[in-house]
Order: sequence, then C-alpha cells, then structure tokens
Amino acid sequence: MAEAERSEGGEGGARTLVWDLPLRVGHWALATAVAGAFVTDWIGPTAFPVHALCGEAVLVLVAFRLLWGVVGPAHARFTDFVRGPRAVWASLPSLTPAGHRPRAGHTPLGGWMVLALLGLLAVQATLGLFANDDISHTGPLYGYVEGHLSNQLSRWHGRIANAILVAVALHVGAALYYRRVLGEDLVRPLLTGRKRGIDATEAIDSQRIVLALAIAAALVALLAWVLATAPEAALDL
Ligand code: HEM
Ligand code: HEM
Repeated sequence: MAEAERSEGGEGGARTLVWDLPLRVGHWALATAVAGAFVTDWIGPTAFPVHALCGEAVLVLVAFRLLWGVVGPAHARFTDFVRGPRAVWASLPSLTPAGHRPRAGHTPLGGWMVLALLGLLAVQATLGLFANDDISHTGPLYGYVEGHLSNQLSRWHGRIANAILVAVALHVGAALYYRRVLGEDLVRPLLTGRKRGIDATEAIDSQRIVLALAIAAALVALLAWVLATAPEAALDL
C-alpha cells in the first residue's frame, strides 16, 4: 500500500491506518450480533430462530477474530497486545491524563479485556448450541447431550449472559473514559481505521481482505456442516 494511503494528512495532523477493514467490520458485526442475542431473548420464544442465528453469528465472528489474531495485520495480532502482568502494571500510568499517549494498538490492559470478551462469547455461544428452554426450543446440537446435561449447560448459558452484560458495560465504560477523561476518541478509529498522533512506521501495510473473506467462508461452511450433521433431537421434558 502507498505511504500516502497509509498515513493521510489533514486538520490536526496525519491519521495513520492502524485497524484493518476485516477487524472493524468484525467488531461492529459482533456488537450487533451480541445485542441481537439479548434483544431476541427479551422478546421471548417467538424470536428464538433469530436468537440462534445471532448466537451462531457470534460463534463465527469470535472464531474469525481468534484466527485473525494469528494471521491478521500487525495490530490485530495477539503478539501485538497480549502482555504479562508486569507490562500491564507498568502501563497503568498511561491510563491517567498526565501519562496518556495515543498508541497504535490495544493497551496491555485493553488487550486482556479483548481476550475476556472473546472468551466469554466463545463459551456462551458454544453452550447455546446445546441448551434448551424447557418449553419448546433447543439449540441445534441438543441431540448430542439431551436432558439433564443440556439443562445444566442452559443454566450456565444464563449465568454467562450476565457476565457478558457486565463485561460489555465495562468495555463501553472504558471507551467513554478515554473520550471524557483522557480526551481520546477510540471509537472513530474503529470506524475509519485511522488514528491521529501515531507514527507512520506503525501503519499496517495491508488489510488482507481476500484472506479474511476466505477464512470467514471456511468458518461458515464448517459451522453449517456441524449443524447439518447433528443428530435429530426432541425436547426431553
Ligand atoms: C456487545 C457489544 C460489544 C462487543 C462484544 C465488543 C467487543 C470488542 C472486541 C472483541 C474488541 C477488540 C477489537 C479487536 O481487536 O478485534 C473491541 C474493541 C473496541 N470496542 Fe467494542 N465491543 C462491543 C461494543 C462496543 C461499543 C458499543 C463501543 C462504543 C463505545 C465499542 C468500542 C470499542 C473500541 C473503541 C474498541 C477499540 C479499543 C482500543 O482502541 O483498544 N465496542 N470491542
Ligand atoms: C453470545 C451469544 C449468545 C448470547 C449473548 C445468548 C444469550 C442468551 C440469554 C440471555 C438467554 C436467557 C437465559 C436465561 O433466561 O436463563 C439465552 C437462552 C437461550 N439461548 Fe442463547 N445466547 C447466545 C447464543 C446462543 C446460541 C448460539 C444458541 C443456539 C443456537 C442459543 C440458544 C439458547 C437457548 C436454547 C436458550 C434457552 C435456554 C434457557 O432458557 O435457559 N443461544 N441466551
């Protein structure tokens, strides 16, 4: 990619491309699918088919993000932002107005938040596949577990949903803290891909869109196959 494309000039300084398009689309799709899973639960059993679809989308998006953390562009990679406790401790002053500097990728603390969200969502969506609502609906893999075990997994599905609500509240709270207290808007870069105040050497060199599409297609195909080959199940009341 041309240098000019990677670092755009403009009012208030250059904006450097740090978040690739697949990561950005993935983030907002994930937020929409998670919100959809909660809203459809609140609507009730009639919305269950959409609940299952939202949850399955979460599964694919999280699996995509985990793979993207290995093969994606620089700042999407886990090696770019997963740090040990010492680095997290040392980074704490950068979360105060006096010590704050914009950085290209996630902060060490933000990196753990990302892993926590992805982990909770992966477990939650997987549990949903085996869950049942005690009335009429079952997850598409219910046939592998049935009865008692499915009931237990359903209870965990309910508990982890609460943990996700807390994690998302913290996540959005952190974005607000950055905006209000540290004076940095993190949301806009997650829409445009570009951040101000970042050295051009930190710019990503490619967005790897074709690779992202291939991974996404393979994951959708894999999930479709897993669901299609699952045993038939009748709710065991
Ligand atoms: C259910 C809703 C949401 C989920 C599950 C979620 C999840 C995530 C994940 C996994 C990341 C890491 C991005 C990556 O490296 O791929 C992230 C980053 C981010 N999210 Fe969300 N998100 C949600 C909603 C929101 C909302 C509503 C906002 C707006 C306030 C937001 C703002 C951000 C920002 C600013 C970052 C980048 C943080 C940074 O620069 O280090 N998210 N989110
Ligand atoms: C991250 C994704 C998901 C979220 C946030 C989520 C959220 C929820 C919530 C809040 C409930 C109500 C729990 C309760 O009342 O105790 C629920 C129930 C349920 N969900 Fe999900 N869900 C997700 C994914 C899935 C998936 C992928 C499936 C299956 C395809 C699924 C199937 C079910 C079933 C069968 C129930 C009824 C279980 C019960 O009432 O205890 N969910 N879900």
